[in-house]
Amino acid sequence: MEKILIVDDYPATIRALVVKLQKHYHVDVATSGAEALELALASLPDLILLDVMMPGMDGYELCSILKESKSTCNIPIIFVTARAAEEDEERGLALGAVDYLTKPFSTAIVSARIRTHLDLKRHHDNLEKMVDERTEELNKALTLLKAKKESEYRQAAQIHSGRLAALGEMATSMAHEINQPLNVLSITLQGWQLLERRDALTKEKMLGDVQILLDNVGRITKLIDHVRTLGHASQDVCSFSLAKVLQNALSLCRMQFLNHGIEINLEIDENVPEVDAIESEVEQVILNILSNARYALAEKNQKDQHFSPVLSLSLTEQDNMICLAVKDNGGGVEPMAEENIFDPFFTTKPAGQGTGLGLNICKQLMLKFDGDITLENNPGQGACFKICLPGPDKKE
Ligand SMILES: Nc1ncnc2c1ncn2[C@@H]1O[C@H](COP(=O)(O)OP(=O)(O)OP(=O)(O)O)[C@@H](O)[C@H]1O
Ligand SMILES: [Mg+2]
Repeated sequence: MEKILIVDDYPATIRALVVKLQKHYHVDVATSGAEALELALASLPDLILLDVMMPGMDGYELCSILKESKSTCNIPIIFVTARAAEEDEERGLALGAVDYLTKPFSTAIVSARIRTHLDLKRHHDNLEKMVDERTEELNKALTLLKAKKESEYRQAAQIHSGRLAALGEMATSMAHEINQPLNVLSITLQGWQLLERRDALTKEKMLGDVQILLDNVGRITKLIDHVRTLGHASQDVCSFSLAKVLQNALSLCRMQFLNHGIEINLEIDENVPEVDAIESEVEQVILNILSNARYALAEKNQKDQHFSPVLSLSLTEQDNMICLAVKDNGGGVEPMAEENIFDPFFTTKPAGQGTGLGLNICKQLMLKFDGDITLENNPGQGACFKICLPGPDKKE
C-alpha cells in the first residue's frame, strides 16, 4: 500500500483527509514541521500533503528542507492550505511542490490529485529504473568490449614478439646457410688464383667452374630473397602449397640440423592440395616447431653419445585436412608438462633461453586458420607435433 504523510495542525482537516484516504493508502499524520521531517526521513512516504501555516517550522520551510535532502527530494508534495493568494501558490510551486490546493477543499479533488501525482511518480520511477538498467547493461557490454580489445592487443603483441623471435632465429640460420655456398665460392676462386700464379688457369677450367659459382650465387640469392619476402610478407590469406613452405623453412635451418648431426627424413605426398592461410604465419609456425625439435634432439645428443638424432617430416591429407607431422626421436615432452605445453610462457628451457611463447603462438595461428596443432607424445622416445589446415572440401 502506498504511504501518504499528512502534515497539518488543524484536527478537522486531518480527520477529513484521514477518513477519505485510509481506505486506499497507509496514512501517517504529523502536526508540526519538525515531527513531519522526522517521519518523512524515517518512513519515506510516497506523497506528502502539506499545510503552510503551522507553529514553528512552516510548510514552505519544511518543503525546501525535504527538496534539499537526497532521500526525500523526489517525494511529491501537495500543499493544502488556507493561503489562497497567487503569490503564495507561486512560492509553493517554486519550492518544488507538484500541486497547490486551497482550503476549504473537496476531499474528492484532493483524492484525485493524489492519484494523479502518485501515478506520475510511479511512471517516473519506472522510467528511471529502466534507464538505470539500460545504463548498467551498456556498461557491462562496454567492459566486455574493452576486455576483448585488450586481449586482441595482447594476442597481436604476442604474435609480433613471436615473429621477432622467429626472425632472430632466421638471421642465425641464414648465417649458417649462406656460409656454405660462400665457402664454395671462396675455395673455387682461391683455386683459380693458385692456378693463375702457376700459369695453369685454363679457359676450360674456368668455364667448368662457372656453373658451380653461379649455382652457389643462385643459392645465396634465393636465401636472401626468401628472407626478404618473409620480412615483408603479405598479411593476406591466399592459397599455397604447404610443401613449398616447408621447403622454405627447411632451407633456413637445414645447416643447423646438419651441424648437430641430425638426419632429416622427408616424406611429402605430392598430391596434397593447397591450403588457404597467411603463408608467412604458417612458415613461422613450422620454424617454431623445427626449432623446438632441434633443441630437444641436441639436448638428448649432449647426454647420450650413442644417440642418432632423427627428424621425420611427413605431409599428408587425412580426412580432408592437410597435415604436416614433425616427429623427433628426442626426449619427448615430460608427461607432467603435456597439459600446459600450449600455454603462454610455459617453458622448460633455462631462464633467459626460452620465452615459452613459441607453441602458444603456433596454437593461436593454427586456430585462426580453422586448423590446429596437436602433440603426440612419447615420453623418453620423442615428440610428434602435427599441424593441420582445412583441405579444399572443408573450406567454406
Ligand atoms: N619437440 C619437443 N620435444 C620435447 N619438448 C618440447 C618439444 N617442443 C616443445 N617442447 C616443450 O614445450 C615447451 C614450450 O615450447 P615453446 O616453443 O612454447 O617455448 P620454448 O621453446 O620453451 O621457448 P621459445 O620458443 O621462446 O624458445 C618447451 O620448453 C619444451 O619443454
Ligand atoms: Mg620454442
